[in-house]
Amino acid sequence: MVLPLRRDLAVRAALERRLLTADRPLAALLDLHGVQESATALHGAFAAVTAPGQEVLHTFAVKAGSLVPVLRLLDGFGIGCEVASPGELALARAAGLAADRIVLDSPAKTEAELREALALGIALNADSPQELARLDALVASEPVSAPPLGLRINPQLGGGTIDAMSTATTTAKFGIGLRDPGAREWIVRAFLDRPWLTRLHCHVGSQGMALERMAAGVRALWELAEEINAAAGARRVTTLDIGGGLPVDFASDETPPPFAAYARLLNETVPGLFDGRYGLVTEFGRSLLAKSGFILARVEYTKTTGGRPIAVTHAGAQVAVRTVFAPASWPLRIAAYDAEGRPKKGPDVRQDVAGPCCFAGDLVARDRALPPLDPGDLVALLDTGAYYFSTPFGYNALLRPGVHGYRADPGTPTVFTTLRRPQTMSELVTEYGGDC
Ligand SMILES: Cc1ncc(COP(=O)(O)O)c(C=O)c1O
Repeated sequence: MVLPLRRDLAVRAALERRLLTADRPLAALLDLHGVQESATALHGAFAAVTAPGQEVLHTFAVKAGSLVPVLRLLDGFGIGCEVASPGELALARAAGLAADRIVLDSPAKTEAELREALALGIALNADSPQELARLDALVASEPVSAPPLGLRINPQLGGGTIDAMSTATTTAKFGIGLRDPGAREWIVRAFLDRPWLTRLHCHVGSQGMALERMAAGVRALWELAEEINAAAGARRVTTLDIGGGLPVDFASDETPPPFAAYARLLNETVPGLFDGRYGLVTEFGRSLLAKSGFILARVEYTKTTGGRPIAVTHAGAQVAVRTVFAPASWPLRIAAYDAEGRPKKGPDVRQDVAGPCCFAGDLVARDRALPPLDPGDLVALLDTGAYYFSTPFGYNALLRPGVHGYRADPGTPTVFTTLRRPQTMSELVTEYGGDC
């Protein structure tokens, strides 16, 4: 059964179950079956191109959905965690992830974080020569054997359509610029001097990055690994971490994440990646979760100002920060439902859909053709399963909505699982210093 039909069932059931009420006018929902379908598609796509016995660790970029039960669910589907902060590492550990299913990437790891990762046996990718120098000292003083350690490379191939998501521009802040003068030789020497350095990592960019450019980045990574191994006369680089970044179609429900197309493209662009000599790590985030989640908000008021109809809802920058602050890069589809949770019908009216935050730009859709909205109706912000409700913005001290996983099928009652409880007012007050 397809995603939109399951979504409609979930909206009705969420109202019946009072997950969304007049007093609790905002909720987030995640289609657990949809998440499972994505995980299965990812495994299948790489299984179709990898060599028999080739080690592949798919990890989920925790920043895309930083909720402990989601990490646990994905772990159950055979997907580990890529973490980029001590907090994300704590979430992965709270979800019960084994150390060898976690990879730590971050450009600003403190010495204590590095020491903790080494002690826990968590693989990590160093982001800079200075971080590598810190690792030198730590590895020398560590009595235990170090976990897999790698180096992040910026292949400097250029950006995609969203600057802020482009991590392979000439001056991007991540990794070591491969094309900078002397960098390639420096990297080769770094590996020759450090037998414990066994991985290369790159993440070319996220949403808005052409698959061809992502594959070119992986090609550059593989060529570097071949050069290092040839120079060492041994298999020094054993594993390539190819990052995440697959784009999501925010414009329709029709296009599934392009896992299979990307795996095929990688196989054409870098056939050596799949001959079984290298272990692989992937770090997909958005493509695993985005399509399965949506934010549901009540319309509190409607009005017309300067000839423009405006629906004032409870979903704004606090749950859709990218869309509100960079609407051209992050447009969202909005679905309209009536107060009973039935899809609302037209004729469409061009209107703004506003959030509750106190600044004029707090709009999740501008001049959008939608069925006329009335107070008590609902709007669903679609494709928000990644990077939206799981990473709220604290402006205006608005309560964080509950996040509810669901399994919906016609003929059977929709089942909900709490993934994050709705925040209470006293929890909010404490978070904002109330206990100080
Ligand atoms: C190092 C790294 N890996 C993986 C990802 C996940 O990217 P995406 O959610 O686009 O798949 C990111 C995103 O910022 C990242 O920085």
